[in-house]
Amino acid sequence: MGREKIKPDTIITSHINADFDAVASMLAAQKLYPDSVIIFPGTQEKNLKDFFISTMSYLFNMAKPSLIDYSSVKRLVIVDTKQKNRLFGVDKLLERDDIDIHIYDHHPPFDDDIKGSFELICNCGATVTILSKIIREKKIQLNGDEATIMALGIYEDTGLFTYSSTKPDDFREAAFLLSSGASLDTISQLVIKEIRSEQVTWLNELLNEMVKHRINGVDVHISTISSPKYIADLASIVQKIVRMENLDVFFTIMLMDNKVNIIARNRLPDIDVGKILANFGGGGHLYAASAIINNKTIAQVEQQLIKILIRSFKSFSLATKLMSSPVITIESEMPCKDASRLMTQYNKNVLLVTNKDSHSGPGYITRHTIEKILYHKLDNLSVKEYMDSDIITISENATLATIEQVIIENGQRILPVQQNNKIIGVITKTDLLDFLVQHNKDIKQSDKGNINTIKEAKKRKINKIISQRLDNYHQELLRSLGKTGDKLGYGTYVVGGFVRDLLINKKNDDIDIVVEGDGIAFAKKYAKINGLRAHGYKKFGTAVIIFPDSSKIDVASARLEYYKTPAALPIIEKSSIKSDLFRRDFTINTFAVCLNPDDFGTIIDFFGANRDLKDKTIRVLHNLSFVEDPTRIFRAIKFANRFDYKIGKVTSSLIKNAIDIGCFNNLSGLRVLSELKQIFEEENPVPAIKSLQSYGLEKILHPELNIDGDTYKLFDEVYKAISWHDLLYADIKYLKWPLYFMALIKKCSFKIAKDLCSRLKFPVKEKTIILKNRLKAEKYLSYLENNLPLKNSELYSLLSIFRTELILYMIASANTQKSKKAIIHFYTQLREVKISLQGKDLLLMGLKPGHVYKQILTATLDAKLDKQIKSKIDEKEYAARYIKEKKLIDS
Ligand code: CTP
Repeated sequence: MGREKIKPDTIITSHINADFDAVASMLAAQKLYPDSVIIFPGTQEKNLKDFFISTMSYLFNMAKPSLIDYSSVKRLVIVDTKQKNRLFGVDKLLERDDIDIHIYDHHPPFDDDIKGSFELICNCGATVTILSKIIREKKIQLNGDEATIMALGIYEDTGLFTYSSTKPDDFREAAFLLSSGASLDTISQLVIKEIRSEQVTWLNELLNEMVKHRINGVDVHISTISSPKYIADLASIVQKIVRMENLDVFFTIMLMDNKVNIIARNRLPDIDVGKILANFGGGGHLYAASAIINNKTIAQVEQQLIKILIRSFKSFSLATKLMSSPVITIESEMPCKDASRLMTQYNKNVLLVTNKDSHSGPGYITRHTIEKILYHKLDNLSVKEYMDSDIITISENATLATIEQVIIENGQRILPVQQNNKIIGVITKTDLLDFLVQHNKDIKQSDKGNINTIKEAKKRKINKIISQRLDNYHQELLRSLGKTGDKLGYGTYVVGGFVRDLLINKKNDDIDIVVEGDGIAFAKKYAKINGLRAHGYKKFGTAVIIFPDSSKIDVASARLEYYKTPAALPIIEKSSIKSDLFRRDFTINTFAVCLNPDDFGTIIDFFGANRDLKDKTIRVLHNLSFVEDPTRIFRAIKFANRFDYKIGKVTSSLIKNAIDIGCFNNLSGLRVLSELKQIFEEENPVPAIKSLQSYGLEKILHPELNIDGDTYKLFDEVYKAISWHDLLYADIKYLKWPLYFMALIKKCSFKIAKDLCSRLKFPVKEKTIILKNRLKAEKYLSYLENNLPLKNSELYSLLSIFRTELILYMIASANTQKSKKAIIHFYTQLREVKISLQGKDLLLMGLKPGHVYKQILTATLDAKLDKQIKSKIDEKEYAARYIKEKKLIDS
């Protein structure tokens, strides 16, 4: 029999990932709504969990949603949030019309806010402050533990009364709670958190990964990190960094498990991080907010955040940032000599002049004008006679464009900023110029990315790595490419796999260049300077530079982009390497190293490539990556196998989704084959084949293709055969992929194998090897196995017709050690055996040329293989004997 359900009249709840304020508010609400039941929405804060487990849970009348009979519920009390998507277990109640909803919250409004029949929303530091005030006014008694929990809410949500969101009410209620018995000892133990050693690691990581973006004059810092497991108390680490580094706006984006979490902290009153994170379904308020995002890549979340920031800061007022305040003003009646004295005293070249007469606006007077007046001894005249009057004033919300127009275009020396008809500050020409100079410096120092968002992507110098790991030829090659870039005024970068492999110290000679400009012009210029050939593909803006040894360098053009600076100085941004890299497959392939002489060796990492290299993880940059290009699924598996990396969780589920929605339906067999060949050419493709199978990709090749234990045994044997061969015969070139392919289809019927070859569009030559020659090899192998021991000459006649690929396939497929040994014996001992006897020797013996020549030469070779003869004389004697015995010559 199931447990009887409880039938409360009122339910209290708060937001998921409850913090101390949420818990404190639920407790306080319970005091206001006796007999209510709390649905605890869960928390991730370690401190909070420990606290409950240890002592305080007895205070709460809590129940699991499954134990509640919702039909009895008439009222829902929501505290510390009003966002529907931040609630847990109360969906059914929210759908009902007859529920009386009461809301207590201190967050600003959001679009998805629940509407309450009663709402108490105040802009104070903690929600519990609002509830504590009611408790105090209603003279409801609190015990010491209750007061402690409530005070904890206030202490934590106000950052020990230091956050800008703290209000006098928070102090007042904290005082009340203290007088009600709140224990400061408990509070200090829980709120003042000692930093633990693993937190130091994350603190360090966050600092290392921090990138500054300047967006419309505001410095926003973003750190993007990932962790395979949950990081406890990340919010407090984030808070520490804000304090340590004195940051205005800080976003931490971290991938934990397969969810992307954002924690935001802000100290600027004009910016509302709660609203910004609402775009991700998160919540919070002006100064602190968080969001959890499912099914998006970390790079995608970061790019989306930057876009949202640009959009939300567009209208961000620079006026208050640029202005000087308080303003030194003089009255228009002031004599010029006094104005001169004040200018000297305050070291100002221009003063704002106000009029007593409220009908006319302010004006200003400059030092230059005053000096002239004094020169003409008109010291006692009042300022109003000479001042520039009726000047333009701006509101605190004015944008930079307006400020520039007034100061630069209208030539107004001083620009008053008004708020509610009061002048709160002035912007001078110097203030504006200082800003623009600094801004332009930032642009230059930036990565030539979006001017609006001056992003200092992660950059470092890798000149040492280049000089230690690349030979002189490649170093010179890179430098010469950079020099050509400089000649054309193009930012020039080596990108992708070459850089990735350089960093992990793997040899890679495939150089891919991206230029911020015309890639074809670049390739032609480079070829001309260096006496090489170049070929351009106009449609794609790409080119190849071809070297005398037929090696090639690919050149691509980064898309041309034009930006206007917020300073409205029209700047033509040459192009964006960043957008070129964002289109690529995996983060680890998005490194770019600048080759231009001034910046040679600077590596740029926009999308967390370094982090993923360290994490040994393959991650896509955006959700549609596999849908846009399904061959990337094979590439992800190839790279994961090659480097022994894992495929990130989100990336892995994107692979599954792409396969589920049939992304391969429109992909040509040729492209699938090309990817498969690349995987089969890897050093050991067997783990990759397992991975392909784990995604069900063998069914993409052919719906009836099965890979079972026997096939894997054969793959392992193929791998062993190849390893054996390559160790002994490094100089013999052959293709590895057909071996794995033949192993893959060994158990298939001929029809399936044939269908597969047609679907994958095998060229005729390859099809012949895979289908015809393979079957022949299998047939001969079977004969060999049934007839051992065989003479050397018999082995030779069986096996010499097969190329290396098929011999290795036979070694791998052999069922017995004996047969394996026999084939190896052929390959190592017999394959190269030759006789010196030639046709002309037979002619000298008086034999007429004809098909008998072949018969005699073969018989002689067989005798040599079977060790019956050794020298050329032996061969001649043997041939003569053979001719005689077989009566091949008329005597
Ligand atoms: N690329 C891509 N999508 C693909 C193929 C390639 O985005 N389907 C990008 C990758 O960023 C890659 C670059 O193009 O770095 C060059 O491709 P390729 O030479 O095939 O990649 P490498 O990373 O050099 O791979 P490999 O080491 O196997 O040659």
